[in-house]
Amino acid sequence: MKKVNYSVTSEFVFLGFTNSWDIQLLLFLVSSMFYVACIMGNCLIIFTVASDTHLHSPMYFLLANLSFIDVGISSATSPKMISDLLKKHKVISFRGCVIQIFFNQAIGGAEMVLLIAMAFDRYVAICKPLHYLTMMSPQMCLFFLITAWVVGLMHSVIQLIFIVNLPLCGPNILDSFFCDLPQFIKLACMNTYRLELLVSISSGFMSLVSFFLLSISYIVIILTVLKHSSSGAYKALSTLSAHVTVVVLFFGPAIFFYIWPSSTHLDKFLVLFDAVVTPFLNPVIYTLRNKEMKRAMRRVFRHLMGYRQIS
Ligand SMILES: *[C@@H]1O[C@H](CO)[C@@H](O)[C@H](O)[C@H]1NC(C)=O
Repeated sequence: MKKVNYSVTSEFVFLGFTNSWDIQLLLFLVSSMFYVACIMGNCLIIFTVASDTHLHSPMYFLLANLSFIDVGISSATSPKMISDLLKKHKVISFRGCVIQIFFNQAIGGAEMVLLIAMAFDRYVAICKPLHYLTMMSPQMCLFFLITAWVVGLMHSVIQLIFIVNLPLCGPNILDSFFCDLPQFIKLACMNTYRLELLVSISSGFMSLVSFFLLSISYIVIILTVLKHSSSGAYKALSTLSAHVTVVVLFFGPAIFFYIWPSSTHLDKFLVLFDAVVTPFLNPVIYTLRNKEMKRAMRRVFRHLMGYRQIS
């Protein structure tokens, strides 16, 4: 009698983007460039905000925390994904795969809450300027940060409970570059329809609630700015447009991906874009649109150059 072992899947194989070596090499070069630029750009923002006292305000603290999250989210998947591009057999261990899913979900959840905190911060600054200092106190900032990470971790743990006991019995090909929940569930040897639905609903619910809150707050802010067309209000609009761009970049691919989890080439391209390019764009958007940030960075550079000349 043949004995069937039902939990033999100890590693997974990524299909990747294409079999063409040239395209993989090109993707390797482009994504490594974006990854390095992402780490450097985000670290520069964290360093600038920490070292420049002009930027010691809730908005910049939240922005630095967003950069920190971007470093985390791209480091959870990109290095493995990028080095895989040069390998013929792209494999990941079961544990590695679960860790990737865990960090992706946790950091993604935290980022959503942080984006809401940033919207709230702008709402108070523009619509209730007289109460800004009392409402966005250091305690409030800390509260937002703790909430962000607690929500992210809880969301992630709940998703892991869904998948940890899935019966895996052989199929181990993931049509992707990194481990993500929807593809992982499809490998289970059971009818996964209800589980897929459950995961879509829980992730989708969280994304939709965040997206709804963000849209409402930005609409209210923009209406307020338009009503009081003072110069200060217009200045606020430039930071605001940076915030809105980041929100669209964060949710656009995610919504597309979760609503149509088929695997066309466009889909995969969007996933790659989301993993490599989006975390890099945040610092670009904020530094390009923000005079104060640009000035602070110039000060940081001058400072560094000065030190080098002295020593
Ligand atoms: C995140 O925000 C907190 C409080 O607002 C701040 O003290 C901390 O330095 C920020 N973290 C980073 C990485 O900038």
